[in-house]
Amino acid sequence: MHLPIRPRRNRRHPVLRDLVAETELSVEHLIYPLFLTEGQKIREPIKTMPGQFRLSADELLTEVESCLKLGLRTFALFPAVRESLKTSDAAESFNAKGLLPETLLQLKHRFSQAFFITDVALDPYSSDGHDGLVRDGLVVNDATVEVLCKMAVMQAQAGADWVAPSDMMDGRVGAIRRALDKAGFEDTGILAYSAKYASAFYGPFRDALASAPKFGDKKTYQMDPRNRREAIREALLDIQEGADAVMVKPGLPYLDIVRELRNRVQVPVAVYNVSGEYAMIKAAGQLGMMDETKAMLEMLMSFRRAGADLILTYFAKDFAKLKA
Ligand code: PBG
Repeated sequence: MHLPIRPRRNRRHPVLRDLVAETELSVEHLIYPLFLTEGQKIREPIKTMPGQFRLSADELLTEVESCLKLGLRTFALFPAVRESLKTSDAAESFNAKGLLPETLLQLKHRFSQAFFITDVALDPYSSDGHDGLVRDGLVVNDATVEVLCKMAVMQAQAGADWVAPSDMMDGRVGAIRRALDKAGFEDTGILAYSAKYASAFYGPFRDALASAPKFGDKKTYQMDPRNRREAIREALLDIQEGADAVMVKPGLPYLDIVRELRNRVQVPVAVYNVSGEYAMIKAAGQLGMMDETKAMLEMLMSFRRAGADLILTYFAKDFAKLKA
């Protein structure tokens, strides 16, 4: 054939492939979500998330230390709250003596080089299993935002570097920003879960925290998977209200949204590679249906290619080990 243009020429040698690679993925881009539980010496496997555990504070400190050795420096913390502490007003969510703040204080004291992100939403603390307060069977917005503000300030007091509202209430980013500033935490950042969809892919996470809704679903606050423009609207609002970074969640089924936001906004874009996406690859790997490691690398790269700056992923440590 007479072919002056041959795209394969740029793929013929491994060094050349590295030279012309368009996308880069490294451990600096990854955020590792960790689950916290009460007690001591507890490392309880999460059945639906093979390789992930509910860790007591002492075990969590050990875990963070081993991640830091691998170059993994950013962590998102999720407490599994005892059933008896869950109430309809979710008051435990802003208890400064609670499991999360007490553990965070220890972490910050011991690992000043690490960066900690805390989740702002009521579901781990709510006897209704919803991200907001429930009144007459409805999740109410404005009263919830007041609680979220107390929660965020308490987390900042305990040393959170970023607070991450994952609740999807309207106006919460602005309200949290004002509350943080008023309390003297103008340096505490906000990572807004801006485009968070009502998704089946959160299933394993809800097992991990026993936080599934006790009635109904989350469709009156989380987004409809059919919508793309609405994601842009949510992100622009959060940025206007003071978000330091915006997030798309889940990841894999919403790569188009990641790209959309990357093209439209100037703040960093994060993606949450959620529990169901992790479970899918782990399960297929265990059943011998796919090469787990290769599938992981390809998936993580897809987030970067779609335009994500940061990736929250349960694969963070596996990736860090691979690269160490
Ligand atoms: C709750 C919250 C959820 C996740 C993070 N924060 C679940 C939900 O909205 O029901 C899911 C994370 C995952 O699936 O890995 N505010």
